[in-house]
Amino acid sequence: MAQDTLTITDNRTKQTYNLPIEHGTIRAMDLRQIKTGPEDFGLMTYDPAFMNTASCRSSITFIDGDRGILRYRGYPIEVLAEHSTFLEVAYLLLFGDLPTEHELKDWVGEITHHTMLHETTKKFMEGFRYNAHPMAMLVSTVAALSTVYPEAKDIHDPANRLHQIKRLIAKIPSIAAFAYRHSVGFPYVYPDNDLSYAENFMNMLWKMVEPKYVANPVLARALDILFILHADHEQNCSANAMRCVGSSHADPYLTTAAAAAALSGPLHGGANEEVLKMLDEIGSKENVPAYIKKIKEGHGKLMGFGHRVYKNYDPRAKVIKWTAERVFEVTGRNPKLDIALELERIALEDDYFIKRKLYPNVDFYSGIIYQAMGFRPEMFTVLFAIPRTVGWLAQWQEMLNDQEQKIARPRQVWTGYEVRQFVPMGKRSPIAAAR
Ligand code: CMC
Repeated sequence: MAQDTLTITDNRTKQTYNLPIEHGTIRAMDLRQIKTGPEDFGLMTYDPAFMNTASCRSSITFIDGDRGILRYRGYPIEVLAEHSTFLEVAYLLLFGDLPTEHELKDWVGEITHHTMLHETTKKFMEGFRYNAHPMAMLVSTVAALSTVYPEAKDIHDPANRLHQIKRLIAKIPSIAAFAYRHSVGFPYVYPDNDLSYAENFMNMLWKMVEPKYVANPVLARALDILFILHADHEQNCSANAMRCVGSSHADPYLTTAAAAAALSGPLHGGANEEVLKMLDEIGSKENVPAYIKKIKEGHGKLMGFGHRVYKNYDPRAKVIKWTAERVFEVTGRNPKLDIALELERIALEDDYFIKRKLYPNVDFYSGIIYQAMGFRPEMFTVLFAIPRTVGWLAQWQEMLNDQEQKIARPRQVWTGYEVRQFVPMGKRSPIAAAR
């Protein structure tokens, strides 16, 4: 018998099956042959929240959660953060290799020349309520781009796809910045093509009356590093949303909007905003032990802690801590850092967190840097969405090019009624109490 197989004996029928094992997985469809009789549908797996299911083969991002390793296309995240720019990393994620000097120059030029938003998109954004959450504005506006570029529907043409990918990467900072300017009541600032990706974003956020915006180079580099760290993270909730919605062949704007909506939740990208709220609530270092006690008693979660995959220190959190020091040399130290460090120190010594392997994740320190740079907490998840757009698009392309992928359509375990007799209105009993 081949060694790379799994032998299953079905005790209901006493039949034995040999299933091939490849890359440490068996194919769920191989279980379908395991039946009690011809009428039986066949065995399925039940895996709420995809705790142990690989939904695709991928060669984009590798994570070893036990060893705290994150690599894009084979390159360790720490190395990319030190030596690359965000657009270089975007190229790597999308095309599989680091660009040559010439390729990078062309790529940066192409992205830079797509940063303008159509005036109708600007008007669309002007219609949001004055206190609209910038993340909700971003999700809706990305979806609205679908109305501006109807040709994006032709997702089977690789050249057309690449065109939309460039547009999305270029326009997402413009949308993010306009969302911010709208929320503070300032006029929108148009992109400046002389500036780098991060500098131009800062220009669109913070330019006031000066003729030309000049970004602080340390802050621009810090933002670029943060973009690198957030660019992709394999099959997380929003990447899965991107692949799932994209598998129906919806256009890339609508698909990206769906992924961004998934990112907005507090258990995913929305956690960075929640961390800041939590630090505000704690107020000072002295209150940390009492706060941790409350968490251990089951009152809420320590935001920015824990991860489905990392059962070790999140390697991105290490780079962020290092970046924070550089930023604070310019902006002054964010006093919340002391609360965060104390929270981390106590949590990492505590049995509750040790037993559950709960470590700080990327969101734990990012908000403290963002706040020191002048961002309000409502913008934090938007800042996450900008670089993650690249990861979503890389995942989307890989999914579309994968011959094995079809429309994503899970099964269910039916727990409802068998067929019921229709009950006429006059004979129904009230169920409001049960509800
Ligand atoms: N604080 C306190 N307890 C926690 C935390 C936390 N942050 N995270 C997990 N636990 C506990 C959880 O209660 C459970 O305990 P028990 O076994 O006694 O029931 C155990 O640890 C396992 O947790 P889980 O909820 O089964 O783990 P999960 O893989 O389903 O959830 C997570 C992962 C990230 C949603 C979760 O750790 C969490 O809610 N963390 C806080 C939110 C957060 O920081 N999210 C950002 C994630 S990283 C960036 C991103 O994805 O965008």
